[in-house]
Amino acid sequence: MKELNSLRTLFLERLKSRVTEKEPKSLYDPVHYILDLGGKRLRPLLTLMSAQMYGSTVEKAMDAAIAVEVFHNFTLLHDDIMDAADLRRGQETVHVKWDVNTGILSGDAMLIMAYRLFNSYDAQTFYDLNQVFSKTALEVCEGQQYDVDFETRDDVTIPEYIHMIKLKTSVLVGCALQMGAIIAGVDKKEQELIYDYGIHLGIAFQLMDDYLDAFGDPETFGKEVGGDIRENKKTYLYLKSLEDQGCATELKEWFSMDFNDMNEEQIETKKETVKVFFEESGGAAATQQAIKNYTDKALNTIEQLSISNDAKKQLTAFSLDLMSRVS
Ligand code: IPE
Ligand code: IPE
Ligand code: MG
Ligand code: MG
Ligand code: MG
Repeated sequence: MKELNSLRTLFLERLKSRVTEKEPKSLYDPVHYILDLGGKRLRPLLTLMSAQMYGSTVEKAMDAAIAVEVFHNFTLLHDDIMDAADLRRGQETVHVKWDVNTGILSGDAMLIMAYRLFNSYDAQTFYDLNQVFSKTALEVCEGQQYDVDFETRDDVTIPEYIHMIKLKTSVLVGCALQMGAIIAGVDKKEQELIYDYGIHLGIAFQLMDDYLDAFGDPETFGKEVGGDIRENKKTYLYLKSLEDQGCATELKEWFSMDFNDMNEEQIETKKETVKVFFEESGGAAATQQAIKNYTDKALNTIEQLSISNDAKKQLTAFSLDLMSRVS
């Protein structure tokens, strides 16, 4: 079984060789820019690990792994436009460095490039990959729309939030793992089990993303710290904090303000004040607990998989690492 670092190196090499379009520059430069900006490469590594654990080869799973990373980066281009985010992986976002129209079209091109990568598979594998990928891609759109709808709603519930992050984030993590299993030819039941592991891991991952968005270190986080607060995102941190009656009224008031009507100083004050509410209400601690609970669910699901003990260990270590991340 290949170790994580060698999988990552191999993946980056192949990614470069499979995304080669150059002209027009204004279409493809942003594609290479975002793909070269780095990132954790979580999803493609999961595809490669999954294929490997079920007895296939990394080479066979490579195009699916590249597809999932290209798709993920496409969602980031559009997400940064939707979230009015200036910073991604410590650098300017595409719509800031170029413009919004560029972000839209380069993103569209990446979505198509992702699908094109499935052409290298035999007919049955192509069909199976395409089915799970299309279902997932549409769900990500649904999740993104809920996320935006929630910004202007003041009655979002925790089950609604969990459903939203399952759609916008977890299903792609599940899909990445399932694609590896499809390529290895494992049965549907096992495919569903590894998908479920991805769902739990993905929920923990997005909860952690929300936590870091408020409390991450600006030096390492790579995105605007407090961006979710600026945008009135109804995260778990916020929803749990509302359960404390002492904070609820003021928090709701802060989250009814539109950042377009505020200057930079007012936005900073909002971020600082809201973060204190998140801590004092117990919302931050509750989020940490929820991250732990979903990580535990993911770890329990690993135990049920039909893979070797070594593979279980690798997946467990990978899951735990992800939860102690700083970016
Ligand atoms: C960012 O994903 C979007 C979320 C679903 C939270 P990652 O945190 O995996 O981003 P990169 O690819 O490592 O930069
Ligand atoms: C992003 O959620 C989910 C997708 C890109 C589909 P966020 O909006 O929280 O991701 P970041 O924090 O910008 O990476
Ligand atoms: Mg965002
Ligand atoms: Mg978003
Ligand atoms: Mg986020």
